[in-house]
Amino acid sequence: MTRSTHERTDDDRARPIDHQKGREFQGYGRMTRRPIALSETAAQQSVENLNQVLADTITLRDLYKKHHWQTGGPTFYQLHLLFDKHFEGQSELVDVIAERIQMLGGVSLAMAADIAETTIIPRPPKGREEPPVQISRLLHAHEILIEEARSMARLAAESGDDGTNDLLVSDVIRGNEKQVWFLSEHVVDVPLVKAD
Ligand SMILES: [Fe+2]
Repeated sequence: MTRSTHERTDDDRARPIDHQKGREFQGYGRMTRRPIALSETAAQQSVENLNQVLADTITLRDLYKKHHWQTGGPTFYQLHLLFDKHFEGQSELVDVIAERIQMLGGVSLAMAADIAETTIIPRPPKGREEPPVQISRLLHAHEILIEEARSMARLAAESGDDGTNDLLVSDVIRGNEKQVWFLSEHVVDVPLVKAD
């Protein structure tokens, strides 16, 4: 065997091997079979649905951070903290959803450009919006997510993918419903000091 020009000499063993390139070992949209007693069709359906929920959850997560930074007005501090708390909750969901996709033998979406192409949550403007508008935008995004997660949860249950059904119901749906409660109470028009 001839010595490759890239092969390191004894003097050069500490040199990092950088700039490496190679083929993908699993393309996006391709499935690998795992021994989890689930048909490939069921796993694939769940992976496709979960990637949609993932793209929308990443978008909602980022919308919360945008609003955490950009909010303003007399309720600044409260909204600043609430938006960040919900951001954390959505971040946890992102990880659980992405890992479920890998667990099923699929490939999860990850990068911003791919998320932007996939999400169905409307793109907000770059500038600052008033708190009631921020809240309305968040509530709309939550409702999109809850609606799709409910129908996907039913499909997962019908195909025998109980793990995905449980994730969608226990984590995604319940988590989003709770955040909707906290958010929507901020746009209930009740008096602050003097009763009607
Ligand atoms: Fe912050």
